[in-house]
Amino acid sequence: MEKKPYYITTPIYYPSDNLHIGHSYCTVATDAMARYKRLQGYDVMFLTGTDEHGQKIEAKAREAGCTPKEFVDRIVEGPRGVKALWKLMNISNDRFIRTTDDYHVAAIQAIFKKMYDNGDIYKSVYKGKYCKDCESFWTDSQLVDGKCPDCGRAVTDAEEEAYFFRASKYSDKIRDLLLNTDFLEPRSRVNEMINNFIDCEGGLQDLCVSRTSFTWGVPVDFDPGHVVYVWLDALFNYVTALGYCNDKYDELEKFWPGVNIVGKEIVRFHSIYWPAFLMSVGLPLPKKVYGHGWLLLDGGKISKSKLAEQKAANVVDPYLLSERYGVDALRFFLLRTFPFGSDGNFSNELLLQTINTDLANDLGNLVSRTVAMVRKYFGGTLPEDQASDEAQDGELLAMAAGLRDRYEAEMEKYQFQNAIGEVFKVISRANKYIDETAPWVLAKDEANRPRLARVMYNLLETIRLCGGLLRPVMPDTADRIMARLGGAASDWDSLQDFGKLSRTVTVVPGDALFPRIDIPKEMEALAEISNGPKEEEAPQEEPVTFKENIAFDDFEKVDMTVVKVLECENVKKSKKLLRFTLDDGSGTPRQILSGIAQWYQPQDLIGKTLVACTNLAPRKMMGLDSCGMLLSAEKGETLSLLILDDAIPAGAKLC
Ligand code: ME8
Ligand code: MG
Repeated sequence: MEKKPYYITTPIYYPSDNLHIGHSYCTVATDAMARYKRLQGYDVMFLTGTDEHGQKIEAKAREAGCTPKEFVDRIVEGPRGVKALWKLMNISNDRFIRTTDDYHVAAIQAIFKKMYDNGDIYKSVYKGKYCKDCESFWTDSQLVDGKCPDCGRAVTDAEEEAYFFRASKYSDKIRDLLLNTDFLEPRSRVNEMINNFIDCEGGLQDLCVSRTSFTWGVPVDFDPGHVVYVWLDALFNYVTALGYCNDKYDELEKFWPGVNIVGKEIVRFHSIYWPAFLMSVGLPLPKKVYGHGWLLLDGGKISKSKLAEQKAANVVDPYLLSERYGVDALRFFLLRTFPFGSDGNFSNELLLQTINTDLANDLGNLVSRTVAMVRKYFGGTLPEDQASDEAQDGELLAMAAGLRDRYEAEMEKYQFQNAIGEVFKVISRANKYIDETAPWVLAKDEANRPRLARVMYNLLETIRLCGGLLRPVMPDTADRIMARLGGAASDWDSLQDFGKLSRTVTVVPGDALFPRIDIPKEMEALAEISNGPKEEEAPQEEPVTFKENIAFDDFEKVDMTVVKVLECENVKKSKKLLRFTLDDGSGTPRQILSGIAQWYQPQDLIGKTLVACTNLAPRKMMGLDSCGMLLSAEKGETLSLLILDDAIPAGAKLC
């Protein structure tokens, strides 16, 4: 039988900076969904990518002193870039689109022309406000306190010749789509969209779809000077990546329409303009747009532009967290902890607690205790002869047998947290079952062997079902669990009923699935990491400044004399000071202390010709008199004494 196609996408992220845990959150969720659908037997296409055009990236590249393409190449393809991150995090995307890919650029030009030709794109003058960070235009009525309603930053006035998309024409159809279908989920986002953007004063506004004030974008080929405004360029990625308006791929028929997973701040673009664009070009609408919630830090959205400050409190770098705790632990935490449709407070401590409680204790212990008991009591292989006890086994078996259906119901609603929750209810029940059946007591009497064998079997089979259903969230862990069960099957059909595991299964021991973390100690280590990186960064260059002008008379007051080093040694108990005995030409040796021990070995300076300010009032340092100051030049971490040609005699004056 031919597999049914299933298409799912993440947003294409702006490579204006390295990605953070918020992007990982969305990508992991989408990956779990894609893996779940594959497990169910669908032919899955999972797309992610990067949204590389626009004013912000152009500006960022300028700051970095490179071309926009070089800039995005580094962030997308670089050693710790976007693609490498998804590889590390075990993301199973089938395709990765970059909006700078040739086939996409050409397709966008064709799409723009098509919409112009059918009258849905027209030329006019754009007047309004623009938020550079969100790449969004706003009308005055949409601003909140005069600021961008999405990010709260200042907006700028903008007026220029521009093309517009006739969104207003589709207003009734979009309202109907939002209100009367389950196109947009969670449903709680529907009213917000309708009230703020469709049934607002003036109705649904036409959307500006070209700009002339920057050049980093897809050129409008029939009107030089205009580049396609990023959102039209970006949204169509979901279909150009399947071959729409290009020859690179040919899977539009097969996979479109699909499911678009997006964060709630871009639901507006995905639930209003995106379907209107599709109506305009005559393509089917997405099956669903799911607008997930935000990960917050101290109540604010984790965001690229605020990362520096936010890092001070919590490590939000998915590279670091994956490497420290394991990819599966991080993936699990993200989906287990936060209800997908709502916002959630991220914290490192919560991550560590979740790893200890759910993974090390509940799941990890269940697996390691059970495997250890099967080895201890049966040498690793269960005997055929097993004895059920309905009263003792009934509840666990009933819960485990119905698990796949309950899990499926939650996954179909994108409720990852609840789906995982169902699995963990069974895991807890199994741990309780160990206490109830007390295998160590059964093991004392040979007559109980069949009963003991059945208890072990029930535990192993429960572990198989739970491990198999956790696979979309923790693919490696599922593999490791199946390996412990002697390579047991965990395909979708085998997860339906209790009892598919071989009666005489042989277990294989292994390391703890998830080592326990010493939380206070680890929190300290993390604090050091998040406050520490300053040391690793290149030292900040201090700006060069110049003092106020002084009169020549004032300059003449400074007495600067050539001196020869007679003796030089470290001052005891001081890491900084060197003590110099100098010939200043007067016949009486002069003592000067100088804080340059970090840069010079005393013996290297003996005999050198230096310059000293010789009329500086004497002062005591470490109990020694210092009569003057040796001149040196200093910048950042480097320092150099003024060393003159030895031909100049001691006592010569600087002028
Ligand atoms: O908006 N919590 O790209 P983007 C949860 N290029 N999810 C978060 C998050 C957080 N704190 N921060 C980011 C763009 N995300 C456009 C999209 S699509 C045609 C174009 C996730 O780099 C979330 O999914 O700003 C959000 O929608 C997405 O990253 C935005 O990424
Ligand atoms: Mg954003």
